[in-house]
Amino acid sequence: MPLSETPLLRALRGDRPDTAPVWFMRQAGRSLPEYRELRVGTRMLDACLDPALAAEITLQPVRRHGVDAAIFFSDIVVPLRLAGVAVEIEPGRGPVFADPVRTASDVVALTSIDPAEVAAASQPIRDAVAIIAAELGERTPLIGFAGAPFTLAAYLVEGGPSKEHLRARAMMHADPESWHRLAGWLARVASEFLAVQADAGASAVQLFDSWAGSLSREDYRTFVAPHSRAALEDARGRVPIIHFGVGTGPILPDMRLGGIADAVGADWRTPLDEAAQLLGPDVTVQGNIDPALLRAPWLVLEAHVLDVLRRGRAARAHIVNLGHGVPPDTDPAVLTRIVELIHSGRA
Ligand code: CP3
Repeated sequence: MPLSETPLLRALRGDRPDTAPVWFMRQAGRSLPEYRELRVGTRMLDACLDPALAAEITLQPVRRHGVDAAIFFSDIVVPLRLAGVAVEIEPGRGPVFADPVRTASDVVALTSIDPAEVAAASQPIRDAVAIIAAELGERTPLIGFAGAPFTLAAYLVEGGPSKEHLRARAMMHADPESWHRLAGWLARVASEFLAVQADAGASAVQLFDSWAGSLSREDYRTFVAPHSRAALEDARGRVPIIHFGVGTGPILPDMRLGGIADAVGADWRTPLDEAAQLLGPDVTVQGNIDPALLRAPWLVLEAHVLDVLRRGRAARAHIVNLGHGVPPDTDPAVLTRIVELIHSGRA
């Protein structure tokens, strides 16, 4: 079967394959003992830049769960590291920047880096994607990804993880010129990272705007959506596009980015039939099993998955996923069982 006829790529075109495609955000990661074993002694970002290791970690959940897509093992801050920005990922915490980007002159200094540096330093990414694509062959598509400008800025401006991303949201209003300069630069960085993955063999891309749900609709439209769209402009027409954020119910229609997203992901707060209604007939929905229910008794979880599938029928097509990433303490057997349920066609 050519890749174009796999359930994921069909669903992204708006077809309804016999059984809905399923994959999980963070399917590669700490829920898998084979991942934890491989990562011993290697820092997260070093693992991302080791092609054989990144390829193996990407393939682990495909082999174990039989999911309908691989997601490239990397991180949203990898292109920043490739551009020369000092960033580390602290275990249990997330991305931390040595030099937060808070003032107008910080923004000028950062954005003086040519985004083409990302492509120039991306050989480990190309090599990893090529290994993965060769291994998956025509059976399973690989999803490439990037962090959206706002979610990247939420870390960069703060200097690390934050709950409400106050500093980044304040910059939009206190110094809009610096904000647009920063977000425009991050859009080019994301675009370069997506192009590297698509050129090397990724069949689709997902833009993660994980923290977009912290924005008012007005701020999303004025300060964020144009930059997210710019990040995707080059990918558009080359590979299908999935756009995802957490807590985005109130801005879901805006997440279509004027029609350039082929699929929009919703978290568990918005029932998929409502999401489909909000998004209209020209977009595929992705989601939205509640990650909290992964630890519920199987019969409870099974009923929830069947409900998600039923509601997903309101959209032109449905890609099954969680509403956010796999929690690290998830029993991986539960994920395998969800895949088996969906593939059984019993739904
Ligand atoms: O399986 C996959 O989904 C592919 C790989 C992937 C990772 N990060 C690996 C990773 C993807 C797609 C990401 C994207 C990412 N990174 C996002 C957007 C997705 C989302 O979850 O909303 C964000 C916000 C980040 C930033 C980031 N990186 C965080 C918040 C963390 C968690 C910190 C922690 O330890 O809890 C990371 C680290 C990270 N990225 C891990 C993995 C597997 C854990 C690192 C480890 O194993 O120690």
